[in-house]
Amino acid sequence: MAVYKVQVSTGQGSLAGTFDTISITLVGIDGESTKHVLDRYGLDFQPGSVREYEVPSERALGPIVLIRLHKEPYSVFPESTWYCNRVRVTSPEGDTYRFPFYRWIQGYCTVELVESTAQIPSDDSHYLLQKYRREELVLQQERYRWKEYIPGTPWCADIDSAMTAEVNLQYSFPKASAFFGRGLAAGSIYLADYKLLEDIPTIEVNGHQQYIAAPLCLLHQKPSGEVVPLAIQLLIPHTRFSIHINVLARTFLISSGGVFDRAIATGRPGLAELLRKGLENLTYTTLCLPDDIQERGVGSLQSYYYRDDGLKIWAAIESFVSGIVGIYYRTSLSVQSDHELQAWVGEIFTKGFLGRQASGVPSTLGTAAELTKYLTMVIFPCSAYHAAVNSGQFELAVFMPNYPSSMRKPPPRNKAKVTLKEFLDTIPEMNTTSLILSVLWVLRNEDKDMRPLGTYPEEHFTEHGPKQLMAAFQDRLAEISREIEERNQSLALSYNYMYPPNIENSTAI
Ligand SMILES: [Fe+2]
Repeated sequence: MAVYKVQVSTGQGSLAGTFDTISITLVGIDGESTKHVLDRYGLDFQPGSVREYEVPSERALGPIVLIRLHKEPYSVFPESTWYCNRVRVTSPEGDTYRFPFYRWIQGYCTVELVESTAQIPSDDSHYLLQKYRREELVLQQERYRWKEYIPGTPWCADIDSAMTAEVNLQYSFPKASAFFGRGLAAGSIYLADYKLLEDIPTIEVNGHQQYIAAPLCLLHQKPSGEVVPLAIQLLIPHTRFSIHINVLARTFLISSGGVFDRAIATGRPGLAELLRKGLENLTYTTLCLPDDIQERGVGSLQSYYYRDDGLKIWAAIESFVSGIVGIYYRTSLSVQSDHELQAWVGEIFTKGFLGRQASGVPSTLGTAAELTKYLTMVIFPCSAYHAAVNSGQFELAVFMPNYPSSMRKPPPRNKAKVTLKEFLDTIPEMNTTSLILSVLWVLRNEDKDMRPLGTYPEEHFTEHGPKQLMAAFQDRLAEISREIEERNQSLALSYNYMYPPNIENSTAI
């Protein structure tokens, strides 16, 4: 008889616990235990609880590779979902096996958890692990399907309502509660060019035709470093909750009759056109900050804090990613032969970038260096870039003439004086403005559940190497934060959008 110690940790949220009966089966390379009910004196699986159990097995199981958790009815109690953080199994010999989960289990079912040591497909030597990986892949492919949203724009997740989405994709309770230039450098002359907005169709708001401007702003940098306008016509790690916010945006913001159709001059049809044009202009260079800075010729533009802070953060992410990649992909061949990785990259190219070769976005990856760059390209826009563009929207728009979502008259075409009445007749009406400001107010407010860049409270990696890299990444981000604090002291207006504690790990709003 071998007795295994099992430690089960339940999530902190008030709804994380369950009254259901939870049993476990341990599966080792030498065999599996019988199903054993986890029950001790008092209430099990309370929110925030960490409980220890003993699981007997008639024979020694060898190294434990996976466990099965069985969730079944208890007495007359109704079914209740359970948020399981992790399970830890200790063998009679004292070897510890960790099973991170951090997911909801809904309904009566059996789920399999695999031991945490991260592995690429070719490392899965045991047939049980290979079987688990195949089945998990099929399950994930059924769960996350693509669908075309607007022809000519990136495909999206095949989910129509955030409320009916798979429970693990949905916002946590606190978050759900909280919810409701492009530059042409020529010496010191820079051009902020919104040509993209030209010819975008506009809609009627409050029964009147609306207009947008395609602003073109010439800026001159004085020797003192100050950037001043030269000529103005009229003047924009890590997927947590990203699918939820995208579905919400498709439901409330850009749906037919949504906020775009009610308060933004382009409405939904213009937005579709804008997305199509945006995708035509989107390149791998644009998405990789160091290349983007070089291509736009803004490397020596002074007081460009987005670039200064962004390049530091890009480098910190890249160094962290490079370390992780180095642990698991020791040769180029291991990158090339990872069929799951290649399929993922291929799918992003086909469905996200519509197979546009001209975008320069890779459809396959050949080396560890290419993989590092690609992963950095995913993490940076989801976290830092999103923070830079999202967080300032309210501050810019709260003085509405600064950032009108819609105009009731076309922008002036000559330098003749504009009267106050003409100006007032041009800016959006009060109901349009208040709708936009209410949306931007929601978008700018991070909730208590926000996880800043580089924080990984869930222990998905349990090995020493990745943990060390995470600690080094956090140290570097703390250093960047101190540098930004110091720099901000000398500024009349602080630039805080790329301050690491303000950057969320994922695009979650
Ligand atoms: Fe966003």
